[in-house]
Amino acid sequence: MSARIRPIAETDIDGVLAIERASFPTPWSRGMFLDEMLQGVCRAWFVADSPWGILGYAGLMEVEEEGHLLNLAVRTDARRSGIAAALLAEILTEAQRRGLERVTLEVRPSNFAALAMYDAAGFEVAGSRPGYYSDTGEAATIMWTGRIDKDPLRSLIAALHARGAAALEAFTIDRGTAAPPTDRSSELILAIETSCDETAAAVLRGGTEVLSSVVASQIDFHARFGGVVPEIASRKHVEAITDVVDEALDAAGITLRDLTALAVTYGPGLVGALVVGVSYAKGLALATGLPLVGVNHLEGHLFANLLADPEAQAPFVALLVSGGHTSLVHAPVWGEYHVMGSTLDDAAGEAFDKVAKALGLGYPGGPVISRLAAEGDPAAIPFPRAMINTADLDFSLSGLKTAVVTYIAAERRAGRDLNLPDIAASFQAAVIDVQVSKALRAVAETGVGTFLIGGGVSANPALRAALTAALESRGVHVSVPPLSLCTDNAAMIAAAAHFRFGRGETLGPSAEAVPDLTLQS
Ligand code: KG4
Ligand code: ZN
Repeated sequence: MSARIRPIAETDIDGVLAIERASFPTPWSRGMFLDEMLQGVCRAWFVADSPWGILGYAGLMEVEEEGHLLNLAVRTDARRSGIAAALLAEILTEAQRRGLERVTLEVRPSNFAALAMYDAAGFEVAGSRPGYYSDTGEAATIMWTGRIDKDPLRSLIAALHARGAAALEAFTIDRGTAAPPTDRSSELILAIETSCDETAAAVLRGGTEVLSSVVASQIDFHARFGGVVPEIASRKHVEAITDVVDEALDAAGITLRDLTALAVTYGPGLVGALVVGVSYAKGLALATGLPLVGVNHLEGHLFANLLADPEAQAPFVALLVSGGHTSLVHAPVWGEYHVMGSTLDDAAGEAFDKVAKALGLGYPGGPVISRLAAEGDPAAIPFPRAMINTADLDFSLSGLKTAVVTYIAAERRAGRDLNLPDIAASFQAAVIDVQVSKALRAVAETGVGTFLIGGGVSANPALRAALTAALESRGVHVSVPPLSLCTDNAAMIAAAAHFRFGRGETLGPSAEAVPDLTLQS
């Protein structure tokens, strides 16, 4: 048999999540699926499994005498092959096994394919639930079956079951790209990144060889406002994206026809900025017929390590430090991430940016502070090291920022000249001390032998040196990406896409940007 229906297992979650994200505008998170699996006897979840990975899934919730179809989705490249019918047959049969009287469901009135399928399976429209779908405000059409233990439903379900079994038997994917690839060394991926203030595109061969990486920074347009202005970011992405993509293809010496897949960052980031990349990539996918891989920007920062250092392998702990994030992440394997701790207030990059602003040094603050710090005395001013001794792995940076701002104001009031290098060095040392201390704790707790850093702040030379010294003296391999891969770029997005594509994870035409996407979802 080519495909089969079986009860869901925890190891299916990645495949299920990828289908969920490609199928629904407001997808369920990993946590929601894991919760479902803990619900026990009142739930039944099934997946359609195949040599090409998970093809679809469906869930049934038992409420008194009724069964409620929670979710049913099929991977984009397996649609129209009878997999949905097979899953629906399994759900209805499960309801019969449980002695339930009927099955109900909600469906979008605009989803004609689903309406037709449910109609053919004996469901009838029972009413409508206004405003049910939060993204469009659309009403849900409520459907239900008659008594599933009696004819005509019983015969209908038996027929559906037979049809589903035949579809599973005959199932095959003959598009070479979707089958588990054997030799991936010549795969060419074009990735697009527009999550913040850099419009970037890159071409990667075989997952590790960067053929081109083009980054058009908008920093100059934002600098005069002291930070990223979302409306400007979206407009500049729209203006730049076509040229940036063309340049990446040209520099790699290839055309769209040579590509194996497209990839795009779909979160986290500024919604208006992400949408530009996601829409552009979806359009390109539609026009070329190429599969499109969705990438989590934060996972991209982790994969940046692998591009330069083949030893950047799981299990590892990573410090992700950027303008929007500060967290310690444990990865037992690539693709599985546990956030061990994060900032309770400001991100590390944000602290650099705010301190630079207070000193009148412009935006972004990281590079200028680190240049000044190189000439200052890190012990000149004893700024606070918040939470350095707490047993957790969280950070708090807003107190440090306030301490620096207060110090600057006091010095000015006293009529003293500011010693910028000393302030920069002392501030930076306070940030680094806490990060090193928490990094050591995270490594000790997990026992890993590899440490990765990622995000714009990992370009900071003093942070890189301090982490490397502290961890390598304990026998931990530290991977520090080259500077060009620390700040936002599309090469890292292509590297993460190579990994996700290998698992058959692609986005469908209805996929959308997810501004608050987390590493764990
Ligand atoms: O990863 P990234 O390019 O964009 C986000 O995803 O946020 O990170 C940008 C952040 C900014 O806050 C910038 O000030 C900081 O990275 N940054 C630095 C350095 N270079 C950039 N922070 C400290 N030292 C640096 N050398
Ligand atoms: Zn970033």
